[in-house]
Amino acid sequence: MAGPPKSLSGQDVGFVCFSHPVSPRPYRACRSFAYLTIKDRIPQILTKAIDTLHRHKNEFFEKHGEKGLEAEKKAISLLSKLRNELQTDKPIIPLVEKFVDTDIWNQYLDYQQSLLNERDGKPRWFHSPWLFVECYMYRRIHEAVIQSPPIDDFDVFKESKDQSFFQSQESIVALCTHLQELLSTIEDLDENQLKNEFLKFLQISLWGNKCDLSLSGGETSAQKNNIINSLEDLKPFVLVNDVEHLWSLLSNCKKIRENTSVVRVDIVLDNSGFELVTDLVLADFFLSSKLATEIHFYGKTIPWFVSDTTIHDFKWLIAQMKRSNHKWMSKCGAEWENYIRTGRWVYQDHMFWTLPHEYSTMAQVAPDLYAELQQANLILFKGDLNYRKLTGDRKWEFTIPFHQALNGFHPAPLCSVRTLKAEVQVGLQPGQGEKLTASEPGWLTSGKYGIFQFDGPL
Ligand code: F6P
Ligand code: MG
Repeated sequence: MAGPPKSLSGQDVGFVCFSHPVSPRPYRACRSFAYLTIKDRIPQILTKAIDTLHRHKNEFFEKHGEKGLEAEKKAISLLSKLRNELQTDKPIIPLVEKFVDTDIWNQYLDYQQSLLNERDGKPRWFHSPWLFVECYMYRRIHEAVIQSPPIDDFDVFKESKDQSFFQSQESIVALCTHLQELLSTIEDLDENQLKNEFLKFLQISLWGNKCDLSLSGGETSAQKNNIINSLEDLKPFVLVNDVEHLWSLLSNCKKIRENTSVVRVDIVLDNSGFELVTDLVLADFFLSSKLATEIHFYGKTIPWFVSDTTIHDFKWLIAQMKRSNHKWMSKCGAEWENYIRTGRWVYQDHMFWTLPHEYSTMAQVAPDLYAELQQANLILFKGDLNYRKLTGDRKWEFTIPFHQALNGFHPAPLCSVRTLKAEVQVGLQPGQGEKLTASEPGWLTSGKYGIFQFDGPL
């Protein structure tokens, strides 16, 4: 039997927080959508990563000579081995390369093993919880790269992330223009007008989450049209709409706050490219409208689920904006750089975000991060993977309250802003889920529907 998992600071965590005596089982990779992800989408993503390494061969040679070429071969062979392990449903093996999170990953694997009985053997790709397997795959991609110096800082997904930004230019220009024109008159807006703009920017950030590259198997996923014109038509597709709570919370904070006190909104980021622009535009609006005084962003420490934002993507995108020929785009870039310089925007990363753990274990596994989130007046969790981790990726009934599915994770008032790309969904009205299943079998995974799901004092 494996010992109890440890926290990132090395303390024993104990099994109690990992088991859910009254919760349903997690989604497994041998079933439905999860199965298709592991069988088709993930091998496609690996093949694309291999191809990317191959195409950068000359660049590695120019930079590092023969050593660069050897490293490229090594990374490709490690990724090919990984693809083979997955496709032949081999046992999931421990990580070998020493890295900050290696021990905690291997402990988690031991923990998965401890859940099986002898007859089951070892955890395997198609028979383990989907959330664990999918996270593990991205962590193994990272391992293949760090095992291949001197190209060990190469991000195999960078190219596609950047492409998604460039291909969304028109829509980005429209967003920046809308924001900058609004900012010139923002002081004159009455309460109602301000609220309308608040709702608009939230919806833009929600639909920005359609643009992720892991659902599309790494193929381009850009926003080609002006999203602002589509918001009205998209309203019927918001299945849970708790935006009124967000407005009450922030507008009350604004009313009661003294000039000196801080109102902090934390945004747990998801995808780079177009979605990140929608999040930054929203964050800018929060500050400019004085609904918040400080924004903290959380990104990933390693390349993750193809399009997730790392510090390099964050800095790169803001620099690109600033450098743009379009005056409003470059104004946004310059102002955002200024927010960072003056500490009104803070970018933070933490290894916990790229562990397979569900968020109900954060207080034990990463108490420092939990304590950090407790400082926020509101936390926005962007995207589908965050939702899966918030709810433990379990087969909940559609009508189970969100608060219950969070299973004790309540660092501060929080809201999931997510388009649906995985089968887990809670907090629906009785019959709502069943009706959608009958009329539209793919509703849970197509990215066509979205939610603003709030948990906090009402
Ligand atoms: O398989 C699709 C998928 O990879 C899901 O596993 C994951 O939840 C989602 O895409 C990523 O979406 P997002 O970028 O919104 O977190
Ligand atoms: Mg993502």
